[in-house]
Amino acid sequence: MTTAQPLDFQAPSPSPLALLLLGRESDPRSERGVECPGDLPAPSDPDLVERARAAKAKLGDKVFVLGHHYQRDEVIEFADVTGDSFKLARDAAARPDAEYIVFCGVHFMAESADILTTSDQQVVLPDLAAGCSMADMATAEQVAECWDVLTEAGIADVTVPVSYMNSSADIKAFTGKHGGTICTSSNAERALNWAFEQGEKVLFLPDQHLGRNTAVRDMGMSLDDCVLYNPHKPNGGLTVEELRAAKMILWRGHCSVHGRFSLDSVNDVRERIPGVNVLVHPECRHEVVAAADYVGSTEYIIKTLEAAPAGSKWAIGTELNLVRRLANRFAGEGKEIVFLDKTVCFCSTMNRIDLPHLVWALESLAAGKVVNRIEVDPEVASFSKLALERMLALP
Ligand code: 13P
Ligand code: SF4
Repeated sequence: MTTAQPLDFQAPSPSPLALLLLGRESDPRSERGVECPGDLPAPSDPDLVERARAAKAKLGDKVFVLGHHYQRDEVIEFADVTGDSFKLARDAAARPDAEYIVFCGVHFMAESADILTTSDQQVVLPDLAAGCSMADMATAEQVAECWDVLTEAGIADVTVPVSYMNSSADIKAFTGKHGGTICTSSNAERALNWAFEQGEKVLFLPDQHLGRNTAVRDMGMSLDDCVLYNPHKPNGGLTVEELRAAKMILWRGHCSVHGRFSLDSVNDVRERIPGVNVLVHPECRHEVVAAADYVGSTEYIIKTLEAAPAGSKWAIGTELNLVRRLANRFAGEGKEIVFLDKTVCFCSTMNRIDLPHLVWALESLAAGKVVNRIEVDPEVASFSKLALERMLALP
């Protein structure tokens, strides 16, 4: 019998040069590539952990640090709470007493935290270059154009937008304005059920895979009920008849990290590790999700492994920081956990938040200087809030 190999790899060592080169200059159409204005401590500084502790202690209850499950271990160590996108949105909204919310995650999460917190609270993203390539795949102009196409086809009135949390505040505002809701990977089915009570069709933005997987795997629709709207083609590359016949209009966006898992990865691991359970995130492609044993958000993945019996074997299809942490955490309980793919796959933008950036953000706050504040335009924020609150109120 073949046994799983322990996860034997090193996190890439943070390089200040790479950070500055990657992070230089701004691209108004992207969440990424924004210059980091501060003097970061050197990654080699042996006192970084002590400095982070001291700055956090000085700030006390004034600061609340949120950490998404894909963050590096060195950052997670300083998080007051960890969670998936849904849990972190709720946690941020539940701390009106904290003056500063330091969001260790990516830009769209920090935007959502800003929208859900009070105007007295300030949200900080330790590295502004921590964006999300999926969120960048749907711009406000493209989505407005798509809505015009649906209007021309005579179906906008019966279409409800459902946008994944992994989208810019502009897209969330569009969703709120047009009677839709936000969803995350842990409530997408509930969001879609709600949307189909409001209308006949759903425009699902921007992750085609989460939309398709939820509709087909969880709700029993067929692949033929779904069409793919390509924002780079006239009319999304669809005929009026195709749009009218569809129940799910899926935006052509995807996660580059989860897109790496393939049916071959699943078949290979089943061959290498007999009896292995394959557990993947719903941002994976449909054929991967269809071949997996379990599918769910990062929080679901953690809970499933917590409940797994000793001696069980697991191949996990999600971001590597989380898989490696879980493999280490459960090794002592005799649970064998491997990464689903053979190649190493971090989310490069999640990884941009490292200890030097966190120390810089915390020390700046402790010195009374708010850096890298994420502040959503008030009008955008009010419509986004509508869509986010619809999500938080889902049955
Ligand atoms: P969840 O934490 O909601 O499962 O989302 C995964 C993800 O890709 C966040 O960017
Ligand atoms: Fe975006 Fe994918 Fe990274 Fe999540 S894992 S932040 S969806 S690129």
